[in-house]
Amino acid sequence: CGIIGYIGDKEAQPILIQGLKRLEYRGYDSAGIAVIDKGKIDVFKCKGRIANLEEKIKFSKIHGNVGIAHTRWATHGEPSDINAHPHLNQKGNIAVVHNGIIENYLELRKKLAEKGYTFLSETDTEVIPSLIDYYYNGDLKEAVLTALKELKGSFALAIMSKDNPDEIIAVRRDSPLVIGIGKGENFIASDITAVINWTKDVIIIENSEVAVVKKDSLQLMDFDGNLIEREPFEVTWNVGESQKGGYEHFMLKEISEQPKALKDTISPRIDESGNIKLDEFPTNFDNVNKIYIIACGTAYHAGLVGKNLIEKYAKIPVSVDIASEFRYNNPFIDKNTFMIIISQSGETADTLAALRLGRKKGAKILSICNVVGSSIPRESDYCVYTWAGPEIAVASTKAYTTQVAVLAMISLYIGKLRKTISDDEYTKVLNEIKSFPQKAESVLKMESEIESISSYIVNQKDVFYIGRSIDYYVAMEGSLKLKEISYIHSEAIAAGELKHGTLALVEDGVPVIALATQNRLFDKTLSNIKEVKARGGYVIAIAKKGNKEIEKEADVVLYIPEIIDELTAPLSGILLQLLAYYAAKKKGCDIDKPRNLAKSVTVE
Ligand code: G6P
Repeated sequence: CGIIGYIGDKEAQPILIQGLKRLEYRGYDSAGIAVIDKGKIDVFKCKGRIANLEEKIKFSKIHGNVGIAHTRWATHGEPSDINAHPHLNQKGNIAVVHNGIIENYLELRKKLAEKGYTFLSETDTEVIPSLIDYYYNGDLKEAVLTALKELKGSFALAIMSKDNPDEIIAVRRDSPLVIGIGKGENFIASDITAVINWTKDVIIIENSEVAVVKKDSLQLMDFDGNLIEREPFEVTWNVGESQKGGYEHFMLKEISEQPKALKDTISPRIDESGNIKLDEFPTNFDNVNKIYIIACGTAYHAGLVGKNLIEKYAKIPVSVDIASEFRYNNPFIDKNTFMIIISQSGETADTLAALRLGRKKGAKILSICNVVGSSIPRESDYCVYTWAGPEIAVASTKAYTTQVAVLAMISLYIGKLRKTISDDEYTKVLNEIKSFPQKAESVLKMESEIESISSYIVNQKDVFYIGRSIDYYVAMEGSLKLKEISYIHSEAIAAGELKHGTLALVEDGVPVIALATQNRLFDKTLSNIKEVKARGGYVIAIAKKGNKEIEKEADVVLYIPEIIDELTAPLSGILLQLLAYYAAKKKGCDIDKPRNLAKSVTVE
């Protein structure tokens, strides 16, 4: 999750450790460093905190002026000493640290194994040093450029070779990387935070660029080796400001990361022929007659969307339940039951207990988790990870949208297996899923509009969210976001249910956030909006772009990009995350750590 590299005249090791500490805020589960020392590469790495790594190297005399280091956040292979970076090829001449995902690593691993290469870890990263070594002919840059032609996915890399001790090669595709320019020394890092202590002169490596970094020179080029000129710029912020990657809160950082989180979660799971490949998934659903989706909090809200999608495309009945309720009711579970357990952390006590109950009664268990190697995936039969990266803010954001993306893919996948979806519809829906990252980006562009609308709710006592079907489930998530971080009381109500009680609370000026993105239900929701307006409520509507009718009724309208009804949740979800965020910010709340709440609830 974090990369730091150093080349110069100083001892690399203390600089690398300090840089790693500056990257700690990004979240990680293991750390490691590699330094070129007298013609060999010394590597030290371990699971756990940077403090553990420091303990490990305390008595080792690591000397050398060139090194790379890494904090890892597991995606492929659980957190362990062996899976930690840097990774070497078997001969130990090339070391690599990597952020991102190599989508075709299994293929490359097979190909390299046929040529006699062996591997120690379960990571996708480990194929890279071997692949570079395979093409290595004395010129590290050339070998890297050749190897890059075969790597698919998103990655930031720092690479060094014991036989080329005067250079580090940095590569960027999607995952960020910067170069700090010093005097007679240069730094490579995932973000400016990690280098700002030593230099304020920075060059950002842009997408699909390679940098050959020496102690007193830097060469930038594209993946074909064509040179690129770029002047460094001077960073004006101080160390404090540069934490959280320049964002004021982790929550905003994580909201903004959603296009990438969605891409990382979706694109490795689509094969060349345009089909979903879920290697982690059972291939036979013949005996499954019922699905239970179990989760807590935000993950539960993602599960509700999942129910709608699975019932529509896979035609299996789905019950969604809150983990702490499920356990104490009387669920019908037997060996033909399939359970989907959703949890960002993979450690929520109630969710884990529900999993164990299901398992005891013979259900097959699939989990959708974000933390690799956590308890829930370890105890499941199958796990599909959301590759959203570490989520640090207590209020969940990118975990939610990526959980919905995984559920959408699962619904199509099962639908195809069971032949309950036509090829045309499958392709159409999958194309829409592929559009999530780019459409999420459009929603993020509405930030200032959403910020200004949030002013209306800041000083309110109650806020109501209404919607139907998927809009209702997203309303529940939007309402949870608002109450947990801004402490404004809010409730989500199925729009049709409003008149059975809650409408009594709607009077002059009461804000009602009305989700009206479902084309097939639009007229019905519009009637509910009219009911609210007739009582003086202030309606903030969320609709699909191009819907002009809503403007006649609502006080303000926020538009999400056009997408099929079934897949609106990530887009309206992001919009409501931003609304809650700005309301809480205007109230001056402790956004990343709301009172009384915890990120991971490990007590029942
Ligand atoms: C806590 C967090 C929520 C999260 C819920 C479930 O309450 O504050 O943001 O949705 O736990 O967590 P999980 O890790 O199981 O998804």
